[in-house]
Amino acid sequence: MSAPSPAPSPAAASPAPGPVIELRHASFGYGERAVVTDVSLAVNPGDVLAILGSNGSGKSTVVKGVLGLAQQFTGEVDLFGMPRADFHDHPRIGYVPQRHTLSSTVRSTVREVVGTGRLSRQPWWGRTTGADRAAVERAIDLVGLSDRSSVDVADLSGGQQRRVLIARALAGEPDVLLMDEPTAGVDAVNQHVLADVLRRLVEHGLTIVVVTHELAAFEDLVTRVVVIDAGQVRFDGDRATFERTSTSVLHDHNHHHHDDELEDPDGGSVVPVTIEVPRSAHDASGRTHG
Ligand SMILES: Nc1ncnc2c1ncn2[C@@H]1O[C@H](COP(=O)(O)OP(=O)(O)OP(=O)(O)O)[C@@H](O)[C@H]1O
Ligand SMILES: [Mg+2]
Repeated sequence: MSAPSPAPSPAAASPAPGPVIELRHASFGYGERAVVTDVSLAVNPGDVLAILGSNGSGKSTVVKGVLGLAQQFTGEVDLFGMPRADFHDHPRIGYVPQRHTLSSTVRSTVREVVGTGRLSRQPWWGRTTGADRAAVERAIDLVGLSDRSSVDVADLSGGQQRRVLIARALAGEPDVLLMDEPTAGVDAVNQHVLADVLRRLVEHGLTIVVVTHELAAFEDLVTRVVVIDAGQVRFDGDRATFERTSTSVLHDHNHHHHDDELEDPDGGSVVPVTIEVPRSAHDASGRTHG
């Protein structure tokens, strides 16, 4: 990957007075079944929040619940201080879904796919402007795919396709980026490049929520950790508190063996997050909100 240069500045919003995302006693699921229950969580401007938890614990469901892509049974979801139903400024939220496959039946170039990330910024009658094209090229450059922008996405590797999806989300110049396992299948070198890209975006005011099994991939970027266990928030605190109280996992993958260890369908490394955080650690970080 080439050294990416100038970060796209997320829409210069005046600093939000309150949380970017706030869940209060929210339950989400599918059909009739709630999968995550009673989730209360605030994501503040500038947070880089990692959501950890074992396979099937409900991490993706929380993210989908925030976006209205999962059924909501109870509680409230606020986006930028507004009930989600009243929120229509969709470009402010970028989303990198988990397990999204770029179709190999429809042939599209990297530039075309990343360009779809601009659509929510354009009125339906709108033309693609120079600003749109510049944002697309910048986003492609950021993920280090400039030399591939005219290549068919179907001809890229899985890890490169993940980077296309990240570029697509960045092209919309969001204020908050929700990423569901963005580094699954991305090699160590490109994980570092991605971490550097995200670091610069955070410096420009981007707020990040990232579901991951690879906390190490985000280096010192992550400021806060939420652990989901069996559909509930088991821990919510700053990273230092998390690393102090959860004795295991993150840097010692071989130490613990779990019966429920699953193969990651995305081919990423699966680190089952052993939940050894006492309930009393919840909110024990003394973190002040706002
Ligand atoms: N579209 C769906 N319809 C019905 N049930 C679903 C759906 N998506 C997920 N589930 C169920 O919800 C539960 C939580 O799934 P979820 O995808 O949120 O877990 P996860 O923590 O993201 O797991 P992973 O680490 O494997 O991505 C699982 O029992 C799963 O089977
Ligand atoms: Mg998931």
